[in-house]
Amino acid sequence: MPTDVSNPKEYQDIFHWAETQKNGTIPSFAARKNDPYEYMPGLGNSFESEAIPGTVPRGQNSPRCVRFGLYAEQLTASAFVAPRHSNKKAWLYRARPAVAHQGFTDMPDNPDTESNFLPINPRVRISPTQLAWLPFDLPGSRDKVDFVSGLKTIAGAGDPMLREGLATHVYLCNESMEKRALVNSDGDYCIVPQQGALDIQTEFGHLYVQPGEICVIQRGQRFKVKVDGPTRGYILEIWGANFELPELGPLGANGLANARDFLHPTAAYEVTQNDPWEVIYKLGGKFFKSTQQHCPFDVIAWHGNYVPYKYDLTKFVNVGSISVDHIDPSIFCVLTAKSRDPTAPLADVLIFSPRWDVASHTYRPPYYHRNAASELMGLIYGEYGGRSDDFQPGGISYECGMVPHGVAYEEFFEASKADPPAMQISKGSIAFMFESNKPFTITDYAWNSKKKHEHEPKMWDNLVDNFSGHKEEVEKIMASLKSVTINQGK
Ligand SMILES: [Fe+2]
Repeated sequence: MPTDVSNPKEYQDIFHWAETQKNGTIPSFAARKNDPYEYMPGLGNSFESEAIPGTVPRGQNSPRCVRFGLYAEQLTASAFVAPRHSNKKAWLYRARPAVAHQGFTDMPDNPDTESNFLPINPRVRISPTQLAWLPFDLPGSRDKVDFVSGLKTIAGAGDPMLREGLATHVYLCNESMEKRALVNSDGDYCIVPQQGALDIQTEFGHLYVQPGEICVIQRGQRFKVKVDGPTRGYILEIWGANFELPELGPLGANGLANARDFLHPTAAYEVTQNDPWEVIYKLGGKFFKSTQQHCPFDVIAWHGNYVPYKYDLTKFVNVGSISVDHIDPSIFCVLTAKSRDPTAPLADVLIFSPRWDVASHTYRPPYYHRNAASELMGLIYGEYGGRSDDFQPGGISYECGMVPHGVAYEEFFEASKADPPAMQISKGSIAFMFESNKPFTITDYAWNSKKKHEHEPKMWDNLVDNFSGHKEEVEKIMASLKSVTINQGK
């Protein structure tokens, strides 16, 4: 399909990013044409970036005097002695170190956020019911809500103070954060915009993240979000691990989300004086603030491997069966995070995006299943066929681990009738799933929301028992088996 690469809307209609490159007839490009920033590609690399050339010290990290009298500050995200592949740090060369602030004060609780998902907490509910939410309302034009004030927690597991668990949130806002930065001391945010782009300023530079893209802001990294009008999206927050790419096993070295397609900011600074800012710290799910008289994004140069990043989901290389059957949904994993159970991840981010469906002699819809995993799905744009409820962009569908699900009988019947042709599916659509081996509990905000609805259980009432219609045939088979068994016994 021909695409106008300058129109951001067009990226929602493509089958894959490859289409935007127009068979090599135009210069290749790594970020959408309306993206105002420059990036560095690669995931897990050690990067360096300087807004003023010659500022990053070479051969050492902490010189007696840094160029321009800058302060050197290390942000260490792992244990100092963590193995190399999981050892994460960044050196920041800045106008003032982060410690230059005027102390912390408590902020009032945001009653719509939650961090303790242990069932002993009276503010969370356990439910084996298949739950769903219609799209959450955006703030009205009279309300001014920024990214931090617009956070609402839906479900999660564990507790950040235990350093193991996760939370899922939505954000509903219409104002930019002004003279206000957020730093999550609990864990990493994977942010999934659904409506409206996020223009994110970080200490490492800028990220522009549009629906169809995701970004990861890691624990301890300060950031500020600018929006343009009503803005909605989803967040997966993880505690005690960082996001990484899944192993590829027999797929080899390429496929799914390729490391080279993850984009990192380049250094950009804002140095101010007599400029009142507040830096909001989230710790143990509570919000605190510190004030300072200068901009916190005053990093002129940096190097390290602990850097925020973004990824365009249209670049995901889908794989699947080219003969029969479904491959398990782990093939849709964009990012994963380890738990302390070596056999099960803490969290996976999966996407369901345009792809070919070609398996023959195969029941093509999602088969009836019960999983060890809890599944929380959202829809970024388009339509998603594999869900039985009223699933719309900006809404949510959730099943706790081991809750059975699958399509209604009519769909089963249609899908069982004849072999479908090879076809493109999920066109013009991206759905995602936050998945975990941990059962989630549901927050008061989500439980009491008017948007909540349960799957209509009657939709499975007419799942016909086809087996009983074969009673005589089965009895005949069993009788013949008995005689064989007796004969063999003799
Ligand atoms: Fe499922």
